[in-house]
Formats: sequence, structure tokens, C-alpha cells
Amino acid sequence: MNRNIIRYDQIDSTNTRMKELAKEGAAHGTVVVADSQTAGKGRRGRIWSSLDGQNLYMTILLRPQLETRKASMLTLIMAYSIGKVLDHFGYKNVQIKWPNDVLINKKKVCGILTEMVLNGTSIDYVMIGSGINVNAREFPEELSDKATSLALESGHNVEREYLLECILERFDQDYQEFLKCGDLSFLKEGYEQMLVNRNETVCVLEPEQEYRGVSLGINEQGELIVEKENGEIKTVYAGEVSVRGVYGYV
Ligand code: BTN
Repeated sequence: MNRNIIRYDQIDSTNTRMKELAKEGAAHGTVVVADSQTAGKGRRGRIWSSLDGQNLYMTILLRPQLETRKASMLTLIMAYSIGKVLDHFGYKNVQIKWPNDVLINKKKVCGILTEMVLNGTSIDYVMIGSGINVNAREFPEELSDKATSLALESGHNVEREYLLECILERFDQDYQEFLKCGDLSFLKEGYEQMLVNRNETVCVLEPEQEYRGVSLGINEQGELIVEKENGEIKTVYAGEVSVRGVYGYV
């Protein structure tokens, strides 16, 4: 993977900047990193608050030769790679809230926003944007019981540059495995070990319906396997779906 890292003190959004660079022909593997963002984007059109200058905001550009339906797998790979890095750093209780929130002690430490641009019917490029709460020690009131940071969890500041390096290296390895396998079989077991609410009841919120069921794990495509109360097995595709714990976010 190309290791061209483009850094900004402040930018609107690393994903937005990457889109401009991609249109100008930026290579597969290009990374945009910013200290803060004035218009950080979250999933479902939400704002990702990023004016602190304390955290890691990064976007990786991929130009994969992949069927479009496989693009969502890339998000799960990134969540897995980040989860594994945090685990190796010694954080306890690192988990993934399917498909791609990374949690420590049941609080969100990282969110991922993947955006795909098509050329006709095939993938032109994919941008995987990750926001990791690294050294922030305060969160807006409404997030304080749902969000955490590495500094809050460990009690000391974390070197962002080193964290970035470790994540890029781990993602590179996992991505190569993915290319070899063609699906997520290489991480299924490890991902499931980190999966929050595994074997517990979750609420699946789809655009047209809502149901409860037991979250059993993921399949090789990265879909969440849920057993409904009537015994029916559903596979949930990571699109416009949200999966919550019965009592709230987790
Ligand atoms: C989520 O809603 O959980 C996804 C949040 C993704 C935030 C990251 S920060 C870096 C990149 N640039 C953005 O504008 N968003 C993503």
C-alpha cells in the first residue's frame, strides 16, 4: 500500500478532502490525517465533533477491484484492525459494536465512516474515515455516558503518531489477508471474540421494520447473524441498519 500521508492541522473533513484528492488521481493507500475538523461527518448524516485537536482523524483511500456489495466488508476490517491494535496496546474490554464502532468498557472510542464512489457499476474508490478519541478528556454532556478516549481509559496521553503507524500497519496486513481470502473468513473468529452483545438480545432497526433477536455472530460476508424470537435466522447487511442493545446504545 502506498504510504503517502497528507497531514493538516485543521480541515473541514478528512473524507471530504480525500474525495477531492481521489478525483485528482490520488493513489491507493493515500492517507489524510487532521488534528481537528470543522465539518467532521458521522454516519447517517450526523456531525462528528472534532474541533479538539486532541484526537486522531484519518481517512484511507482504497482503489480495490471488488464487487460493490463487498465494500462494506472494508469497514469491518478497519474496525477489526483498530480493535486489535488497542488490544495489543493493553486496553482491556476492547469490543466492536457491529458493524464498526470500537468500544472500550462499553463506551465508544472510535467511529468509522466508509464512503464509496462508483464508476458506472464498479467501484472507483472507497474512503475509510476513522475518528479515534485519543487524548480528549471531556465530551459534550449528551455523549459523556456513551463515549470514552484512550487517555481516559489509561490515565495517560497516547502518542497519536505511533497509534496511526500501528493502525496503518495492521490494516495493511488485514487487507492483504482479505485480498487472499476474498471474504472475511480470516477474521470471523477474532471479530466474534470482540463482538459486543454476542449471544445476547439486540434490537435490529431496519428502515421498514424493527425486531429483536439474539446476536449469534457474523458470517464470511460480514453480515450479523440474528436469531429472531420465533427461531427464524436473519442475516443483517451493514447498510441502513442499526443494531442496539435492549437498553440503549450498547
Ligand atoms: C460514526 O458515526 O460513528 C462515524 C464517525 C466517523 C468520523 C471520522 S473522523 C475522520 C473521518 N472524516 C470524517 O468527516 N468522518 C470520519
